[in-house]
Amino acid sequence: MRVLLIGSGGREHALVWKIAQSKLMEKIFCVPGNGGIAQQAECLDIKAEDIQGLLDFAKREKIDLTVVGPEAPLAAGIVDEFQNYNLRIFGPNKLASQLEASKVFAKELMAKYRVPTANFKIFDYADEAKKYIEQIGAPCVVKADGLAQGKGVIVAQTVDEAKQAVTSIMQDRIFGDAGNRVIIEDCLEGQETSIIVITDSKEVIPLASSQDHKRVFDHDFGSNTGGMGAYSPAPIVTRELWKEILDTVIYRTIDGLAKEGIDYKGVLYVGIMLTKEGPKVLEFNVRFGDPETQAILPRLNSDLSEVMLATSNGKLNKITKTGGLKWDSRACVCVVCASGGYPGEYEKGKEIFGLDQTVKMKDIIVFHAGTKKQGDKILTSGGRVLGVTGLGNTIKEAIDQTYQAVGKIHFAGMHYRKDIGHKAIKEVK
Ligand code: AMP
Ligand code: GLY
Repeated sequence: MRVLLIGSGGREHALVWKIAQSKLMEKIFCVPGNGGIAQQAECLDIKAEDIQGLLDFAKREKIDLTVVGPEAPLAAGIVDEFQNYNLRIFGPNKLASQLEASKVFAKELMAKYRVPTANFKIFDYADEAKKYIEQIGAPCVVKADGLAQGKGVIVAQTVDEAKQAVTSIMQDRIFGDAGNRVIIEDCLEGQETSIIVITDSKEVIPLASSQDHKRVFDHDFGSNTGGMGAYSPAPIVTRELWKEILDTVIYRTIDGLAKEGIDYKGVLYVGIMLTKEGPKVLEFNVRFGDPETQAILPRLNSDLSEVMLATSNGKLNKITKTGGLKWDSRACVCVVCASGGYPGEYEKGKEIFGLDQTVKMKDIIVFHAGTKKQGDKILTSGGRVLGVTGLGNTIKEAIDQTYQAVGKIHFAGMHYRKDIGHKAIKEVK
């Protein structure tokens, strides 16, 4: 099988790493890829947004399966385009991708099909949004409707901060058209967890549970990032909780979409807040999580490419009939090494040292995110640079292993959280 993977982050490296292990695999291409992916796949300089370029490439190279990492090409309709030419592609189509691309769409769907989420109101005008904020007070959450590269959500602690967020989004238009509408919603409290499933809209196959660490500093201080680390499984997600989330969130969402005439095929990622009143949806993503994928896939024993093929063919029941996915019972931890300054401004082009020492370590995989190869050197080229990932018999063992590997790596300005997975240790006790 010839596979084309679209994207360039740690998530995409984990996907390439996993897909490369399939017995079906003949050749993997990745666009644009990164310094680590280049060791396992042929990387090409086509932009992830260049749908026509990708289509031409897939036709020319007789690609059997295209896998889309990030949300932007999905929201732009890459799946519909590929399907027009009978090219097999894994991911939801344009209509289904609205679940992530429009928070208004997602909220209205949840309200209609009784999917638990924070109370909310939608606004087309800044002055009305601000009036409402004064009425409900703080804390509250302001969300831009459209895609804003993970920056469109402001959890405001004061009324002024919330009103300022509305000004930035709707009047200063910092996210352009993505800020034509805003949602103001109640601030939820609790622990967050990432629930990721694969569905062909008839069958649902859950992936292992995981938890991300969104804040930049230890003990959840500092600003939100794309994710500074993750672990799987998340012990807080008990069997009963899984069932409750499947029943009240996953099935209702997929059935609701079907009733709206939308066939959802691909990965559905649900960010959940475990509140005192039960699990509530914070957000939907129509793709794999980053860095959750780096902590989940090393635990997956089944062939992911078979599952992806079955999903895009609408035949996921072939996988469920044979007992679903098989998992390694060990725990997995991924620690993100980031550039100095991330999630704010940072410099690129720093040489990364010590990667060779991690290659020999058992049960350690270093997924590359913002890296590029230059000669025989690997340089930093993004905010999140590496996802150092380790397996262990217990979560504690996985954490210790992973930090030993992190200790061998360095580049100028490198920073990382020292407490990835600690919440899970507390839960296990
Ligand atoms: P989103 O882009 O919707 O995933 O939101 C990003 C982050 O903002 C989430 O992971 C939460 O940490 C936080 N967040 C979003 N909505 C709420 C909410 N209603 N209450 C509290 N925190 C929220
Ligand atoms: N880790 C959060 C995300 O992938 O959106």
